[in-house]
Amino acid sequence: MSAQSQPRRVENLHTDKGKVPVYATGIVAQPWDEYSADDHATWATLYARQRELLVGRASSEFLRAQDAMGMTPDRIPRYAQLNAVLEQATGWTLIGVEGLLPELDFFEHLANRRFPVTWWIRRPDQLDYIEEPDLFHDLFGHVPLLMNPVFADYMAAYGRGGVKAHAIGPDALQNLTRLYWYTVEFGLIREAEGLRIYGSGIVSSSGESVHALESAAPNRIGFDLERVMRTRYRIDSYQKTYFVIDSFEQLMDATRPDFTPVYARLATQEAIPAGTVLDTDTVLQRGTGAGWPTDADA
Ligand code: PHE
Ligand code: CO
Repeated sequence: MSAQSQPRRVENLHTDKGKVPVYATGIVAQPWDEYSADDHATWATLYARQRELLVGRASSEFLRAQDAMGMTPDRIPRYAQLNAVLEQATGWTLIGVEGLLPELDFFEHLANRRFPVTWWIRRPDQLDYIEEPDLFHDLFGHVPLLMNPVFADYMAAYGRGGVKAHAIGPDALQNLTRLYWYTVEFGLIREAEGLRIYGSGIVSSSGESVHALESAAPNRIGFDLERVMRTRYRIDSYQKTYFVIDSFEQLMDATRPDFTPVYARLATQEAIPAGTVLDTDTVLQRGTGAGWPTDADA
């Protein structure tokens, strides 16, 4: 692996096209000694709030995995400490990064069981909402399920699939990105006790943790690979549709086949707007659609 560079907070560029992320590809050592008291307090506040909300809402696997990792509310965890547990469990390693990576770099890390974690944490005035992934989202949201052997394999397979989709072209990449969005980031799972959250974008958000399960507004639809890959998504509001898996094994089985023919088939089909329900959907709960910005779907 390349030499580590000094951590440097990278801001989005504000241009006339809106915000354009500045990609920094380097791996950085977590500057743990430089976290301020405010940084640790932000972690503590968010951690305590989410853990309380997530009992009975997050998947039992997520909660169990988070406990097994030994994350605690009092201090921002040290990646090295988590790695000692994680490497032993599933062979994954956390690496520090500045923020979002170019797609191919990201895929190659995942394919090699390296999970990039943003080293900086949001400011105290960003507790409820932040546009970019920060340490809290990455560490609290994504890392626990890497302790689960099936999910850990899924993430590595996704990385290999990403390298392949990247070579096929932008449409294939968009299909694959939607799969990530509706599973890794915003997935729901049906457990014996009821519907539960496993998506990182939900578990790291207090508002969406409640919305995803308790609001009448969004659709909740049974997972179907090609349906998911055709579905657009919103990045600026809660989701209009959540896709529900029955188990991580189901997800693994559905994604095991070569996607090359799937991409070819999807290339001839229209994308589906985020809030649409089709006759062919397995609808667990049809949403009222109330409460979204009125402008069209993303
Ligand atoms: N089977 C997929 C492919 O051929 C790889 C993949 C696995 C993608 C799991 C996503 C998730 O591209
Ligand atoms: Co994320």
